[in-house]
Amino acid sequence: MVSDPAQSAAAQVLVASNRGPVSYTVGEDGELTARRGGGGLVSGLSAIGDSAEDPAALWVCAALSEGDREAVRRGVGEPGVRMLDIDAGSREGVHAAAYNGIANSVLWFVHHMLYQTPLEPVFGPEFRAQWAAYETYNRAFAKALAAEAAPGAAVLVQDYHLTLVPGMLRELREDLRIGHFSHTPWAPADYFRMLPDDVAEQVLRGMLGADRLGFLTSRWADAFTECCVRVLGGTSGTRIGVHGLGADADFLRERSRREDVEERMATLRRQVGEGRKTVVRVDRTELSKNIVRGMHAYRELLETRPEWRERVVHIAFAYPSRQDLAVYRDYTAEVSRVADEINSAYGTPGWTPVLLHVDDDFARSLAAYRLADVALVNPIRDGMNLVAKEVPVVSDEGCALVLSREAGAYEELGEDAIGVNPYDVSATAEALHTGLSMPAGERAERTKRLAAAATALPPAQWFLDQLRALTG
Ligand code: G6P
Repeated sequence: MVSDPAQSAAAQVLVASNRGPVSYTVGEDGELTARRGGGGLVSGLSAIGDSAEDPAALWVCAALSEGDREAVRRGVGEPGVRMLDIDAGSREGVHAAAYNGIANSVLWFVHHMLYQTPLEPVFGPEFRAQWAAYETYNRAFAKALAAEAAPGAAVLVQDYHLTLVPGMLRELREDLRIGHFSHTPWAPADYFRMLPDDVAEQVLRGMLGADRLGFLTSRWADAFTECCVRVLGGTSGTRIGVHGLGADADFLRERSRREDVEERMATLRRQVGEGRKTVVRVDRTELSKNIVRGMHAYRELLETRPEWRERVVHIAFAYPSRQDLAVYRDYTAEVSRVADEINSAYGTPGWTPVLLHVDDDFARSLAAYRLADVALVNPIRDGMNLVAKEVPVVSDEGCALVLSREAGAYEELGEDAIGVNPYDVSATAEALHTGLSMPAGERAERTKRLAAAATALPPAQWFLDQLRALTG
């Protein structure tokens, strides 16, 4: 940490997030290999990727893997990226407790309303220890940002991992312009107030330390305001804005036309079989994505509308996520179990009703987007959901979109999607039927309108709008 930040700090624009744009792996020979990460947050912030060579822009993130920590130890790094090894400066396990314990098991659960409330949550001593780690982890970010930011710099803090950073950073550096953006839904006040009172207050006050807060939809922004009113009595003048992150049309159109995608389309077509339609879903296997109910809906479709048997294949890509947590591992296993069950109940020698892939392959995801007849996006709750926005952009011949009304994307795409209540399996089965039966012309027309709505605010513009709103 530098004693006089104004003298040595150079960054004019800083981004802070738990997961950064690169991750490292250590090879058997001890060599470090850097790989650019994926996900909505990374794609949204790619706008500053272009200026990675520019020392005025800096992305501060946490070291997540053994390779990342090794890179920090060796002083290896990408230009424009500073990785923090949180555990190096404090006791071990701080990052895991903050990330797995608080961010993924508490704040994620609260905002996505995932608790099975007769038994959960339990806020006792284990929670308190994790909360202390979350504070330490947030403070490490605040200190690093304070040390790196030039006088008057703009700092854009991302997501539920870092809710305390704006307030902590404000205490260290009054001169900075601080923004915070939430990529998740925000919990309704009654649900949010399950958090212990002091923690609920700390989260809200931490965020209100920012000059400006951003949300993906007005629904989440209003929920935040309501929480502030109920818990704190108001928002104390912090500005709040809505920025609905859109799909990156230029990137997707170019990337999805490459050779590797074409190859995977040929493979998928072979696996699906001549003349069959497809229901496609692509998700990280998160509890909020509702993959199991989606499979139940597909089974109900085969049951109640037997005319679809042998004529449709459900392509389900469910990529592993947060496997450190038992509840995620169990859910991942349940997805496979239900897929197997459907295949044994309905499959025939020439037809596999569900094609489940769990190994992450971006080119194959794009291939599935291109050939999908119906895309199934049915999360319990979702901040936005970029899959719903990406499919219409790359679809070859038009794709019907079955979309949960609880996804942020529904606010922008609801008119041309087939909306569903994500808990209503029977209605979802019926929506799949509607999508599969939609005349080609109508499907193409809707897809065109969906693509226009989905690309209204591309990632680079999304980022710059926030920056301008913060500094302007
Ligand atoms: C999703 C959410 C983001 C979040 C990210 C973290 O993509 O939309 O809000 O930052 O998950 O995922 P991770 O794999 O880092 O836990």
